[in-house]
Amino acid sequence: MASEVYHHCKFEVPEIIFGRGLLRQVGSCARRLGGKNIFLVSDQGLFENGWVDFVMKSLTDAGLRFVYYDQVTPNPKDHEIEQGALEYISKNADVIVGLGGGSAMDAAKGIAILVSNGGHIRDYAGNDKIYRPLPPMVLCPTTCGTGSDVSQFAIINDTDERCKLTIMSRCVAPDISLTDPDTLSTLPDEHVGSTAVDALSHAVEAYFSVASSTLTDVNALRALNLLSRSFVAAIKERKPEDMENLSRASLHAGMAFSNSLLGVGHALAHPIGGLYDANHGNVNAVLLPEVLRFDFPVVKPKIQDMAVALGSRWSDDEAGAEETSLETVVNMLESGGAPSSLRSLGVQSDDLELIAQRAFKDICVLTSPRETDESDLLTLLKKAY
Ligand SMILES: [Fe+2]
Repeated sequence: MASEVYHHCKFEVPEIIFGRGLLRQVGSCARRLGGKNIFLVSDQGLFENGWVDFVMKSLTDAGLRFVYYDQVTPNPKDHEIEQGALEYISKNADVIVGLGGGSAMDAAKGIAILVSNGGHIRDYAGNDKIYRPLPPMVLCPTTCGTGSDVSQFAIINDTDERCKLTIMSRCVAPDISLTDPDTLSTLPDEHVGSTAVDALSHAVEAYFSVASSTLTDVNALRALNLLSRSFVAAIKERKPEDMENLSRASLHAGMAFSNSLLGVGHALAHPIGGLYDANHGNVNAVLLPEVLRFDFPVVKPKIQDMAVALGSRWSDDEAGAEETSLETVVNMLESGGAPSSLRSLGVQSDDLELIAQRAFKDICVLTSPRETDESDLLTLLKKAY
């Protein structure tokens, strides 16, 4: 591999359990973490399609009591976290189980932060601001993109400032990540595409990150390969083997970005999500082609491996590898019906400067492979507009 020029390497992941049908183990997982009264965080959609009942039964079968908290919305809000923390404390819960997409799992993390550290969730935005250990956590993803179940990130909306708080700490990685790809069977078509695009963005930005390592690259490239094979087929036909590949891609991309962080795509996606409560995957879909074009000039030694992982034809020259990589990604986005402009997501042109200012302060800018300033970010936004 042309890109193996690493000097440092640090790689942290939770205990990982992955396999179809394994959600039934959630009760035994919570019990061996010492739980007796479990705080189950999920959302109402998952209750309606039966997965919450499935988890409740597993907890009961394991001899555990539980408290169910479902006041979680997409782009989880600070007040939802605060309310959940009050309930956790008042009910004397001892282990947190998060079941759902990134919103439910990030809400679970936010609640875990507040019950153990107090204060306002805003106090923990940034890198390594959490000093007391969190309650034990089991996180069970039911979408195929967030990576929150393995990551050292939690993203919470600050509703006063209308911005996303990016919290990064080893503490917010759960004790156990439990993925059962069967849960994707009830995921609506539009969420299959949008969450898989999130995984695609994680893999690309993690691979390009200045903090990438041999261990993050192998996971990022594996995610890209799985997505290139199964993304379109999963969206069109929803065959179990393709859906499982999306779950696996999400896991690999999550392990990659949790350890290498991300880049300008997510730095921009965070303020857009905060201002507009927009779907995170759709925002990434619009930004990703521009992120590739922006980063390509400074990641040239890595692009040929990327092109191969994406299943593109082998190209001996860097320009050819760039072209085929970009083409493959754009084809995937188009096949998935992804939106192609920020305007179509409701972003106002008057807000682009504010978005660029906020993005420049986001922690993800620190690992961008290309040195950037607010005017670069504004230019990128305008191209995606
Ligand atoms: Fe993301």
